[in-house]
Amino acid sequence: MPAPREVLAARLRSQAKACAELGSPFYASLLEFAAADLEAGGPVWDVLDGYEAEHEWAALALRLMGAVHRLVLNETLPELAPHYPSVGGDGDAPAAWPLFRQALIDHPAEIGRLVSRGCQTNEVGRSASLLGGFLEVAHRTGLPLRILEIGASAGLNLRWDHYRYESTEGAWGEPTSPVRFDHAFEVSPPLNRSADVVERKGCDLNPVDPTSSEGALTLRSFIWADQLSRLSLLDGAIKCAEEVPAEVERIDAAAFLERELAAHRPGMATVVYHSVFMQYVGAEGQERIKRAVANAPVHYLTMEPVEGTFEVRLGGELLGTSGPHGTHVRWLR
Ligand SMILES: C[S@@+](CC[C@H](N)C(=O)[O-])C[C@H]1O[C@@H](n2cnc3c(N)ncnc32)[C@H](O)[C@@H]1O
Repeated sequence: MPAPREVLAARLRSQAKACAELGSPFYASLLEFAAADLEAGGPVWDVLDGYEAEHEWAALALRLMGAVHRLVLNETLPELAPHYPSVGGDGDAPAAWPLFRQALIDHPAEIGRLVSRGCQTNEVGRSASLLGGFLEVAHRTGLPLRILEIGASAGLNLRWDHYRYESTEGAWGEPTSPVRFDHAFEVSPPLNRSADVVERKGCDLNPVDPTSSEGALTLRSFIWADQLSRLSLLDGAIKCAEEVPAEVERIDAAAFLERELAAHRPGMATVVYHSVFMQYVGAEGQERIKRAVANAPVHYLTMEPVEGTFEVRLGGELLGTSGPHGTHVRWLR
């Protein structure tokens, strides 16, 4: 059995590698420094000691990064601002590291409390991954859409039809939308299709209100601090959420679907969908979700990780693949 320090350092390094691969050199470097500090019994160890038994999916490394980022965003740590790109800094990780480390020494209770809260994200980019699926349902059925998202977090992907999508082959959506995808598609889905959302509703065990300052800060804190295009999509989606209401109910996904799908809704196509969600649901919950979907006349759209990529499927049929944050979307024609 590996020692706790080894487990935790490996977790930080594994996240560092993922950040490097996904275009966040700033976080990749800070996490490498953090792993070495933890191994040496420094303040990173003091904050993370005890978390070694957690599941890898609990994203401990990102909770640590999110905790410090939050304190940079709310100006508790002004000394880190010159190096955090999200607030105009230079992204110099070696210069930021001693200040990051000192912050753990100066604010152990606050950072410890934030780390213990769990990672709550909502990735707006996934709207670009899912777009082709919604358009496919609208095209096949010719009906307006009733969309039900499970594990919706802040509900930002419940407003996908209010965003603008550009590809080399055309565009879809409102030209003046505050959310604009310019580089999401390597191979775009057919965009010459219309879709009309007549009802939108989501659920989550821990919904975030993107229109509250607390909710917006939480969502912003979990964006990797040097990924300004993700931050700008998020800020646009928060703006959009202020204008387009979409309820995210605090309820378990299986219970939500069993209730929502109990009655048939004629004249509209019901789309049940989720992205990067199923891994957080236990076996029994997954069974109930599958049963609820199988027993109702619904279109089941998913974007979930499969062997190093993310697959977009409609009723099991593979429609396309994408990166985890909705870039590199490759539609199969
Ligand atoms: C990784 S986040 C993804 C959020 C969003 N789908 C996205 O792609 O940005 C997973 C979400 O699933 C929610 N969740 C996990 N288990 C759930 C359940 N049984 N019922 C409802 N929501 C759940 C979590 O609270 C979290 O907001």
